[in-house]
Amino acid sequence: MNVKIAPSILSADFGRINEEIKEVEDVSDMIHVDVMDGHFVPNITIGPVVVKALESKKPLDVHLMIKEPEKYAEVFVKAGAASITFHAEVVDSKAAKKMIKKIKALGCRAAVALNPDKSLELIKDYVNDVDMVLLMTVFPGFGGQKFIENVLPKIKELRRMKPMLDIEVDGGIDRETIKSAAKAGANVFVAGNAVFKEKNRVKVIKELRNNALAWQK
Ligand code: DX5
Ligand code: ZN
Repeated sequence: MNVKIAPSILSADFGRINEEIKEVEDVSDMIHVDVMDGHFVPNITIGPVVVKALESKKPLDVHLMIKEPEKYAEVFVKAGAASITFHAEVVDSKAAKKMIKKIKALGCRAAVALNPDKSLELIKDYVNDVDMVLLMTVFPGFGGQKFIENVLPKIKELRRMKPMLDIEVDGGIDRETIKSAAKAGANVFVAGNAVFKEKNRVKVIKELRNNALAWQK
């Protein structure tokens, strides 16, 4: 599988966010953008007006940690999202299918996310419809949390089911944890603190990529 690295700007300096993006974009595959509403998660970040102001050569991977994503998906596509990830916990299968169709019709990639304690059962009705599945390796809300190893069997199971699907992991990914996530079958890696809390961001991203490639099965 091809490896994709997506730095999460949640850990970057928002006072100079476009310079931060510029520093990492050449060696990255996507830029991960965390949208939080203070309801689905206990934190609030940014909305579509800020997403619109982001300048990136690479696709914006927009992760919606919000209730009622069906209400807001379109406005984030219009703000520049190249992929929209919604959480399975907040939509039933019927609404999810409808939203996936709508996102794709707008020319955007559609993805679904699952919290660490949620099983693949929750997305079984529409896993064939999405372009990517995000398996959270922390409980969403904040950067800098510890990677939850219990998620590894779920990554393996999904990779067994879907050999060619983009499987993204998000939360606590660093030079070490990326190895077990890659070995389990993930191929898209979000990293916030591991990238932006480091002085030489380009070097870290290269190391993340090399480690993922080396540990892939
Ligand atoms: C957490 C967010 C993540 C976060 C990851 O709720 O969804 O994208 O930025 O940050 P790190 O890599 O520091 O765990
Ligand atoms: Zn995220």
